Amino acid sequence: MSTESTTTIAVTGAAGHLGRLAVEGLIASGHPADKIVGVVRNPAKAEALAARGVDIRTADYTDVAALEAAFAGVDSVLLVSGSEVGQRLAQHTNVITAAQTAGVRRLVYTSLLEADTSTLALAGEHLATEKVLAESPLAVTILRNGWYWENYAADADTAAKTGTLQGAVNDGRVAGAARADYADAAVAVLTGTGHEGKVYELAGDEHLTYPQLAEAIGTARGTAVTYTNLTGEQLTAALLSVGLDEGTAAFVAGLDAGIARGDLDTDSTDLHDLIGRSSTPAAKVLAG
Ligand SMILES: NC(=O)c1ccc[n+]([C@@H]2O[C@H](COP(=O)([O-])OP(=O)(O)OC[C@H]3O[C@@H](n4cnc5c(N)ncnc54)[C@H](OP(=O)(O)O)[C@@H]3O)[C@@H](O)[C@H]2O)c1
Repeated sequence: MSTESTTTIAVTGAAGHLGRLAVEGLIASGHPADKIVGVVRNPAKAEALAARGVDIRTADYTDVAALEAAFAGVDSVLLVSGSEVGQRLAQHTNVITAAQTAGVRRLVYTSLLEADTSTLALAGEHLATEKVLAESPLAVTILRNGWYWENYAADADTAAKTGTLQGAVNDGRVAGAARADYADAAVAVLTGTGHEGKVYELAGDEHLTYPQLAEAIGTARGTAVTYTNLTGEQLTAALLSVGLDEGTAAFVAGLDAGIARGDLDTDSTDLHDLIGRSSTPAAKVLAG
């Protein structure tokens, strides 16, 4: 094992989907569990990791003092971006400030694919966080994560029942991957060398149009699924009719407009290169 891999690594959001996979990936890579700090806001959600020997520490992204205590003795932090949209810049800034004060050397941040040019509404907080990091003295690696295939799980459930996947993406493509692929990329960066100052554009090897995604869902669920392309207005109306509130419907329609513009597709092979294998196909991730 390299010296690098025996340093103490903290993973924030360790009780969430991506964070937990990153912690499990670190353990699987041979990093000692007692050299992994899982930062969570609710330790009850991290009992399984604690049972494996991971050092679980409690801190909310809103609490700088608790974050600073959680980072005591930590060399590297994986900052998993928060889920409270609109509050994330302040929260991430707290994590960055606390890491600096606690003497952390290196911080790896999960951003958004092509955050600097993306038209997605989600991009702003990520890009602003990247700027805070660029101005910090920390050694920084940016993991600009593309879309999770898991995001389509509910769509796949509906499509398996109705035979139809609906969207308003025109011929836009999504280069998605499994959360586990992005977690493996984070593990490769955290346990490897030469990643400081790098910005990785992480996306899958599959670049699916929505007709192809419908086909993948059909394969996953053993039934025929076809794609119906709607206008943005039609999609918004369809979402409102099944009970979504206006804000959520507008968010989803905005996302589809971004996909139509190519926001979730890229030519980058950074994910494949970091994990040394092909990303997980949508049909495998979306199997029921
Ligand atoms: N690339 C994509 O397709 C995609 C899709 C959705 C989201 N994302 C981004 O990627 C991140 C990780 O994805 P995921 O699937 O792992 O999401 P997730 O399961 O919702 O995990 C988010 C984690 O952030 C933690 N968190 C949120 N607010 C916090 C706060 N105020 N203080 C401390 N911890 C806080 C959550 O804590 P709890 O466990 O206590 O809830 C959770 O562990 C998301 O948070 C979001 O920024 C990416």
